[in-house]
Amino acid sequence: TPTNVLEQFRLDGRVVVVNGAADGIGLAVAQAMAEAGANVALWYNSNDAAIEKSQELSSLHNVKSAAYKVDVSESTQVSSTMERVVEDFGKIDVFVANAGELHDTYEHGVTPQKLTFTKGMAISKPILEQTLNEYQKQMSVNVDGIVYCAKYAGHVFQRQGFGNLIITSSMSAHIVNVPVDQPVYNATKAFVTHFGKSLAREWRDFARVNIVSPGFFDTKMGAGPDCLNEAYRMSSLGRQGHVKEIKGLYLYLASDASSYMTGSDVLIDGGYVL
Ligand code: NAI
Repeated sequence: TPTNVLEQFRLDGRVVVVNGAADGIGLAVAQAMAEAGANVALWYNSNDAAIEKSQELSSLHNVKSAAYKVDVSESTQVSSTMERVVEDFGKIDVFVANAGELHDTYEHGVTPQKLTFTKGMAISKPILEQTLNEYQKQMSVNVDGIVYCAKYAGHVFQRQGFGNLIITSSMSAHIVNVPVDQPVYNATKAFVTHFGKSLAREWRDFARVNIVSPGFFDTKMGAGPDCLNEAYRMSSLGRQGHVKEIKGLYLYLASDASSYMTGSDVLIDGGYVL
């Protein structure tokens, strides 16, 4: 680890994989890594914009970059893509498990008291109104997806003798968030937070594992109708976070600057959960 603190943040020659990288937090994280000199593999699911974004990163920052289409809820796609990245890039230094389930079929449905569900948000309905299909969809991306990515990245890390896993959880792992009903979402995030801590222990000889727990950020997932403004005001800073305000935290966790950190769960929520 370099003694100069700015050098500790450099990622030149490192290989970072980010999933859910076509937009939102994932794209901002991929940008942060490329800006710090890392070669980046962008995993995307449905949004082909990732291909263009990847080319942009590569020419802007003079790094190697490639986009891979993979549904993280399919274990065979995750394992084969993981190996393809190793073939293409030679190794994986950091894996950012960030993809999260998005509700893309419902239009806004707002009651006077509560936001019930919103296009582009995580499923926000009381459990009594959720279909089993909706339940399973959330589990398959937010839980299965994280487990598959962690497991197959872990095999690579063990083989290499080094690695670094960063999991995007949520402040919803800490609190039952209001004013939205997201019982399953909240529980999936609690799962991945504790899962990550367990892996930090299990992989202590060869890899670090840390967790990021964002509050409300201005992505598709965090973008809501006006009634959510009330919720944003409940944070101490009184507003939503902008994705550019989360880049530094992921960079810190990916870099040597955080070399003594593992098993940590870092809230970045404008002081919402206090
Ligand atoms: P986003 O919608 O921009 O990103 C979610 C990404 O996950 C998308 O790129 C989507 O394509 C990908 N994805 C969904 N299903 C997938 C699948 N089956 N396979 C592969 N990729 C899939 O939203 P955002 O906000 O950037 O979300 C990123 C992470 O941050 C999620 O895990 C979310 O739960 C978490 N988060 C977001 C907060 C916010 O306010 N924006 C708050 C707390 C946590």
